Amino acid sequence: MTAPNFNNYIAATSAPSNIAIVKYWGKKGIQEPVNPSISFTLSKSITKTSISYSQSDRDLSIDFLFEGKSKEAFIPKLKTLRERLINHLPFLKSGSLKIESSNTFPHSSGIASSASSMASIARALYNIQIQIDPDVTANDKQAFISEMARLGSGSACRSTMPGWVLWGETQVLSKSHNKYGISINTYIHPMFNDLQDTILVIRKGAKSVSSSIGHQLMENHPYRDGRIKQANKNTELLLEALKNGDFEAFAKVSEEEALSLHGLMMSSSPAYTLLAPESLRAIKRIIKFREHHHIPLTFTLDAGPNIHLIYPKSQSKIVLPFIEEHLRVLCDNEEVIFDEISLQ
Ligand code: PMV
Repeated sequence: MTAPNFNNYIAATSAPSNIAIVKYWGKKGIQEPVNPSISFTLSKSITKTSISYSQSDRDLSIDFLFEGKSKEAFIPKLKTLRERLINHLPFLKSGSLKIESSNTFPHSSGIASSASSMASIARALYNIQIQIDPDVTANDKQAFISEMARLGSGSACRSTMPGWVLWGETQVLSKSHNKYGISINTYIHPMFNDLQDTILVIRKGAKSVSSSIGHQLMENHPYRDGRIKQANKNTELLLEALKNGDFEAFAKVSEEEALSLHGLMMSSSPAYTLLAPESLRAIKRIIKFREHHHIPLTFTLDAGPNIHLIYPKSQSKIVLPFIEEHLRVLCDNEEVIFDEISLQ
C-alpha cells in the first residue's frame, strides 16, 4: 500500500477594520442583516493573518494563535465558521489548520477587531482553497470573499474591499445584497474620499454587553420596525449626501445613527448602556466646537463608549489642536488613535 501524498499549504493575508455610518443592528437567518448599512474601510487598523494547512484524512483540527498566544476562546467561533463554509471550501472537511493573527491596533480600543479579523481569515481560507483546487473559483471573487467574511462576523463583509461599502438590500441600489457587501466608491463625491477617523479611546477594555447580545435583543425590541424604517431612510439620505458632497446631510445621518444605536440599547429589555460620562462630554464639546467654527466635523459611535471623530483631511489643521486641547483629556490614559479611509 502506498502512503497517501499529503501536502502543506500556507497563506498570509491582511484586512482592515471599518466604521459604519449607517449601522447594522439586528440580524435574521444566518448572519443576514435586518437593515442595510454603509461603512468606510480604514487604512491603518489592520489584522494580519497567516494560515498553515496540512492535508490528512482525519477530521479537521483547528489551532488559533493571537499575537503569538493560543486563544481557545476564539475556537468556537472558528468551528461555527467552518460549518458554514464547508460546502464552499471542501478542504475544511479534514486536515489540520493553524491560524495565527495579530492586529496593528490596540485591543478593545473602539476599533472593530472582529471585522478585520474575520475578513483576513476569509481571504486566507480562500487563498488556501485555490492552491489546493484552482477549479473552486468563484464567479465573483469579491462577493464570495465578502460573503465568507459575513459568515464569520456580519460587519466583516464590509472589510473585504476598500473605501465605501454598502451591505444589505436597499431599494435604491438594485445590486445591493444581504449576503455580501458591494463597493459604492463610484458614487462618492471627492469630498468624502479622504475622511479622517480619529478614535477617542474613552474607555479601554472589553464591553459589558457584546454585539451578539445586542443583535439578539433587537428580535423582540419594541422599536424594531421603526428602527428598520429609519435605517432604510438613512441609507437613502446617506447615499444622496455622499453623491452630492453634502457634509451637513452626512453629519446629520452619522450622528442620528450613532445616537439611535445607543438609544436602542437603552430601550432594550433588559436595558443597558455602553456609554461613559466622558462619551457624552466629548460629544457636547464636538458639537459646540463645530457650531463655533462652522467646519465639516462629525462623529459616530460603534457599540462602545469610544468616539470616532470624522472630518475631511483639509480640516486637520483646525481639528488636531482641538483634539489635543479639549478631547485627549477625556480619554483613557489620554489615548487617541489616528486612522483614515482606505481607498485601495
Ligand atoms: O458584525 P458585528 O456582529 O460585530 O456587529 C457590528 C455592529 C456595529 O458595529 C454596532 C454596527 C456596524 O454596522 O458595524
